[in-house]
Amino acid sequence: MSIATLSPLYDRVKSVIPPFEWPAFAPDIEAILELKRERDAVILAHNYQTPEIFHCVADIVGDSLALAREAMKTDARVIVLAGVHFMAETAKLLNPSKQVLIPDLRAGCALAESITAADVRLLRQRYPGVPIVTYVNTSAAVKAESDICCTSGNARKIVESLGVPKVIMLPDEYLAQNVARETGVEIVTWAGHCEVHERFTAADVRQLRRGHPGIVVLAHPECPPEVVVEADFAGSTAAMVDYVDKKKPARVVLMTECSMSDNVAAQHPDIEFIRPCNLCPHMKRTTLPKIRHALETMTHEVTVDPMIATAARRAVERMLAI
Ligand code: 13P
Ligand code: SF4
Repeated sequence: MSIATLSPLYDRVKSVIPPFEWPAFAPDIEAILELKRERDAVILAHNYQTPEIFHCVADIVGDSLALAREAMKTDARVIVLAGVHFMAETAKLLNPSKQVLIPDLRAGCALAESITAADVRLLRQRYPGVPIVTYVNTSAAVKAESDICCTSGNARKIVESLGVPKVIMLPDEYLAQNVARETGVEIVTWAGHCEVHERFTAADVRQLRRGHPGIVVLAHPECPPEVVVEADFAGSTAAMVDYVDKKKPARVVLMTECSMSDNVAAQHPDIEFIRPCNLCPHMKRTTLPKIRHALETMTHEVTVDPMIATAARRAVERMLAI
């Protein structure tokens, strides 16, 4: 394969990657495509990965929920997770016999780091009998202390499925407040925030509407409730992609991580994307050279302590069953 024969791949990203940048990506893309065949590997990429990863080397793309579901369906021997550590751990929980690799072990998550298993045990003591719903953006140890997991794509459905007047929802305070408003269920929250989404404000939304008449504002539910209330629609990253695909607004802003707009814009050259950019430094740790290195050296392997894996898997599987 040569850089020239990779040009159909460049077509996918030409509206977001200038031609002079492509030669910097093409050799790694070529090598990764070959290595995937050699290693019997698939690449799962989150919607926040950069376009050259998302559109050119990934086999499966999506939100946290889709990545967890798709991880279970693959026949490949190796899963490379282009995303952050909790996503790789979730893939491993659901595929104990497969090798799960993360290209950079430092790709963490501010939310996941805001709570420990000991914190969850204390909350259970303090609120006996109240179910604990844990966002997938947590460590396997935290999941293991929980009754059921949720993602931003199914949080409302999971809370409603429990049929109780009060739940504990961890660790994202804003997601919990947004779900409480939608469901009327009393929710005990934890003061964890996503460092990307907590920076958006209602004043940003109003300024965007003034500066860009007719703009459609889509917000992620990790944004503060005041932002979600001012937006036209709130949903997971996959729900935002779906909204743009179906409604094709002339002008849109996605109140979420930067690369998401690039990835959706690449598929919708006729839509004007306004891009107030909040970058996730953890998501950006994954690069093409690191994916190539992961496949060449079969590192870094993600494992889950068997002492916690069974309970953590149960919480994830309960979510997937709903
Ligand atoms: P979703 O893709 O599930 O909406 O999650 C967003 C996020 O912040 C992942 O880290
Ligand atoms: Fe964590 Fe927020 Fe980054 Fe997602 S965007 S990985 S929730 S810090």
